[in-house]
Amino acid sequence: MRHAVIMAGGSGTRLWPLSRSARPKQLLDVVAEESGGAHSLLAEAFARLQAVLPTEQIWVCTAARYGDAVRAALPELGADRLILEPVARDTANAVGLAAALVADADPDAELAVVSADHVIRPVERFADALRTAYDCLAARPRSLVTLGITPTSPATGFGYVQKGDPTEVPGAAEAASFREKPDLATAQEYLASGEYLWNSGMFVWRAQTVLDALRDHLPETAAGLARIVAAEDRDAELQEVFPTLQKISVDYAVLEPAAAEPGRVLVVDLDVDWLDVGSWPALAHTLDADEQGNAVRGLVVALDSSGNVVLSDDPDHLVALVGVRDSVVVHTADVTMVCPVGDAERVKQLLAAAEERF
Ligand code: GDD
Ligand code: MG
Repeated sequence: MRHAVIMAGGSGTRLWPLSRSARPKQLLDVVAEESGGAHSLLAEAFARLQAVLPTEQIWVCTAARYGDAVRAALPELGADRLILEPVARDTANAVGLAAALVADADPDAELAVVSADHVIRPVERFADALRTAYDCLAARPRSLVTLGITPTSPATGFGYVQKGDPTEVPGAAEAASFREKPDLATAQEYLASGEYLWNSGMFVWRAQTVLDALRDHLPETAAGLARIVAAEDRDAELQEVFPTLQKISVDYAVLEPAAAEPGRVLVVDLDVDWLDVGSWPALAHTLDADEQGNAVRGLVVALDSSGNVVLSDDPDHLVALVGVRDSVVVHTADVTMVCPVGDAERVKQLLAAAEERF
């Protein structure tokens, strides 16, 4: 049967101070609705999967401390479909845990793994690409399928998939190579070559296949996961074993080495408007645009100011700008953060420095 799991355990540090360790970006109501309200990226990811799968085949994997917030954000999620990690050990372990539990419930499960921090339009084209990716498994049961996006810049925060020969499934090609987060010079080369797609961070494979790949490439993790699933008291074993697993993402642990095997990794073109809401300039696309070209949310007044991202998270607190250009200004109840748009990637660093004082 077809299943899907949303990876929703990231901490979203580059969206500080709105994104906090207690409430990371995927749980913030940042996506504006036509009605004037807003919903979370996680709720959007869930609704996107409901276009393809019955609700009971959708799972969410997140850190235990976000469990209550996830339940509140997704009232339709089945109680036994929420997988809680005792601590975040990055996506190789989250994907592995989800695959082990889904395979335990359904040994032949075909499992899509999707991110919780994307805005994707239109949903119908996403649904078509996901169905194509599942269809690849009928033709090639052992394949690891990634959904790829046509790159528009030499971004260094993404994985790159090199397109190889076409497959018998229309819309799917073999991946000739996979490289996670290359340096800028390499990313520029990839972009200029026209041969690469961005890895969307969304995958489809048989649950058993990714467990086999973990056994090949990350054997201690595979052994730990097997111990957790086999244990009489699974929860106790999870608490004990999971924190000891090596912290690494599925892209480095599985996709990079597996792509060295010819024909093992496939890529399906995901031809959509796609936004990875990783940093303030990206989040700006989900806010309202004022007539001067600022992205704003909340009580904001901007005079002779443009290119700014301005957000007041406190309904009683006005943020007022005059003559300000290309800056991020974020006000929350206890932190005000200001930086040039060009320094938005450094917010992670700023948070580390702020944590020493605050
Ligand atoms: N459950 C769980 N546990 N989820 C996690 C964890 C974890 O420990 N760490 C991250 N996630 C979730 C995030 O919430 C997000 O939805 C997804 O997994 C991807 O993690 P990110 O931390 O956002 O990864 P990334 O953006 O650096 O890179 C990935 O996505 C890019 C596209 O957005 C990679 O797959 C790249 O190759 C890809 O290009
Ligand atoms: Mg991301």
